[in-house]
Amino acid sequence: MHIAYPSELEAHWLEIARAETHGTSPRDILHRMLPDIVRLADRFTTARPPDAAPGAAPYLRDTRSCAAYSLFFAPQTYARLSHVLAELPPFPETAHPLRVLDLGAGTGAATWTLLDHLGSRPVALSAWDHSRPALRCLHDLFSALRRARWPDATLRTTPAPLGDFAASTEKFDVILLHYVLNELPAEFRRSLLSRAARSLTPNGRLILCEPLRHDAGDYMRGLRAHAIEELGLHPLAPCPHALACPLDGPCHDVRTWKLSQALQILNSVLHRDLRHLAYALLVLTPNAPPASDTLRARVVGSPSHAKGHTVCPACCSDGQIHRLQLLHRDFDTAGRKDLRHLERGQVLRLASLTPLGDPSLFRAIPAT
Ligand SMILES: C[S@@+](CC[C@H](N)C(=O)[O-])C[C@H]1O[C@@H](n2cnc3c(N)ncnc32)[C@H](O)[C@@H]1O
Repeated sequence: MHIAYPSELEAHWLEIARAETHGTSPRDILHRMLPDIVRLADRFTTARPPDAAPGAAPYLRDTRSCAAYSLFFAPQTYARLSHVLAELPPFPETAHPLRVLDLGAGTGAATWTLLDHLGSRPVALSAWDHSRPALRCLHDLFSALRRARWPDATLRTTPAPLGDFAASTEKFDVILLHYVLNELPAEFRRSLLSRAARSLTPNGRLILCEPLRHDAGDYMRGLRAHAIEELGLHPLAPCPHALACPLDGPCHDVRTWKLSQALQILNSVLHRDLRHLAYALLVLTPNAPPASDTLRARVVGSPSHAKGHTVCPACCSDGQIHRLQLLHRDFDTAGRKDLRHLERGQVLRLASLTPLGDPSLFRAIPAT
């Protein structure tokens, strides 16, 4: 699945950057933005500061840094979160507009992805961040594009630190925490997760997505266990089960994607390795999802292809990692093509799993 970053979103940020830089062509504008983009891109990789205190000064400190952030990161966010959302069952019907809370919303990259995913559905959106410039940019983009893209959405912004977010009587159908937890101290992550969980409606969804940071330890594993065992939540993704995570290392997706036009121009100078999106996700809900006849298995390693079959390691509904043998003859033409491009994190929907002679190998038949 290759979702293109909407040109209207990119054009909006290019226009903001044009006003900031007085550049002429897109190439010229992007060239002038490069120092700001490099500073931010390094801040999240090679020059990452130690975990910020919850009250630390925002790095999205002005309009220019917001445009730099959005030109470089928002297309990646759009592709990444589109993958996550595509895997979830449809959002439950509600008698009122879907109440969405984006915690650490920044300039709204995750929000716009969710709004586009929801299509014309009425949404009451709340965006929370301690960066006032980011929320101002988010508000401006919403005002500029709402009529054409999300005519039935409303927006409320809260410029405040996440430490001020308290579980209250106000409930949300969706709470997003996209690329935020990793910036917070470990003990604060857990308390924020608990407060967010208490603010969900019974069928609500808490959507967490985090960068794959080998230096940060496997904090998502700890948060998952806390959410299931202590907060009583159920995982909707990535796990096809609620048992202990069977993986040795951090659970994550690695997906290929299509760079936006501006990002192609930027990266012809920056030369960052942007070919893959590597991220960890966790989607939780208070009410157990209904049982289904279809088995789910999640690809958790590289597949190997041989004549007539593909073998891939997958996390399965029984809470174990099995090697699945997928016979090409069980798939239609489109399915066989998909198999050739199977990526880590993809979900296979299966009719049955049958053990083969080798105890770790299972024959997997796709659901029709
Ligand atoms: C990497 S950005 C992600 C922004 C947005 N979720 C997205 O996906 O584009 C992290 C955001 O969290 C916000 N943030 C970090 N720590 C915060 C805190 N303690 N209180 C409020 N906002 C915070 C930052 O200002 C920033 O906008």
